[in-house]
Amino acid sequence: EKGGFEHFMLKEIYEQDKTIRDCMRGRLNALEGQLVLGGIHNYQQNIINAERIIIIACGTSWHSGLVAEYMFEEFARIPVEVEYASEFRYRNPVIKEGDVVIAISQSGETADTLAAMEMAKERGAIVLGICNVVGSSIARVSHEGVYTHAGPEIGVASTKAFTAQLIVLAMIALKLGRRRGTITEGRFRELLIELDQIPEKVKKSLDLDEQTKEISAVFKDAKNFLYLGRGYNFPVALEGALKLKEISYIHAEGYPAAEMKHGPIALIDEDMPVVFIATRDSSYDKVVSNIQEVKARKGKVIAIVSEGDSLIPGIADYVIEVPHTFEGFMPLVSVIPLQLLSYHIAVMRGCNVDQPRNLAKSVTVE
Ligand code: F6R
Repeated sequence: EKGGFEHFMLKEIYEQDKTIRDCMRGRLNALEGQLVLGGIHNYQQNIINAERIIIIACGTSWHSGLVAEYMFEEFARIPVEVEYASEFRYRNPVIKEGDVVIAISQSGETADTLAAMEMAKERGAIVLGICNVVGSSIARVSHEGVYTHAGPEIGVASTKAFTAQLIVLAMIALKLGRRRGTITEGRFRELLIELDQIPEKVKKSLDLDEQTKEISAVFKDAKNFLYLGRGYNFPVALEGALKLKEISYIHAEGYPAAEMKHGPIALIDEDMPVVFIATRDSSYDKVVSNIQEVKARKGKVIAIVSEGDSLIPGIADYVIEVPHTFEGFMPLVSVIPLQLLSYHIAVMRGCNVDQPRNLAKSVTVE
């Protein structure tokens, strides 16, 4: 069942190079420069013409929605709002005929996400579902949708479903960008090639397991953690913090690194581990300054950096190097050591990682 792994969560973390490949199979052909998303064929024109896209989800799926916001706006130049399903459904949101609502859900059964979709549908929106579980309620309520094909996710903490969601969302964003003419054919092809190389890069990141375990041993008794990132890595900071708190019961917060100075910086002292997702992207220099600010207050810095980074190792206490890719796809790679970090810390603390207390795999209550 667990394929020789001690827990389903670890097995599922290790499966990700394969599940990402499965998710792209039959859809992405990098050599030919082709991207086929059969699941959103009938409504493709409506999506291309949409004036805005609203993404609704909960938890980890909401984090992949945040990454999608940046990708959709960058590639397709369509304004995107990302909403917690539970907040969206209980206010009186402005939804116009022709708005596109994308619901993201591993289980396809999350009550709030399902109800939010039904409401949006009643008000004339086109609703698309991105689900992992085939034939789930959310899949059935959607006008159309794309499955993530990550296979059954048993561990309560979502890992492989998250990375598969990111792949599906990247493919949709690229497809829209190409069809709307907001990215050039050349750029489109380059990005397909980058996407095609993600499984290998994820696989390489899994080699960081031992190093991550050593770092976990140092910090396993910490009372709090801060996770900071900017741009595409901001949602990764949120996801890293969520993973840690749900399975290890250590309090953790994710923040956009630039917001640190508006409050959380007050928390920093020599007992505060701060995980920076600081890969080489358009906000790199700014993140380096944020790391220096934390070090100036004696915080302990664990930095996830791009391979070959020569600056951050001189500043941070611990450095984890991941393979580099286009910044929009970096979350697929940078999240891997964060999944491993939370896993090892939870195991070292004797927690039940596959079935953390108070949590259920699908939240069918409101
Ligand atoms: C986090 C986690 C939850 C789910 C959330 C949404 O690891 O498992 O936060 O992501 O309950 O679930 P789905 O994606 O099934 O709608």
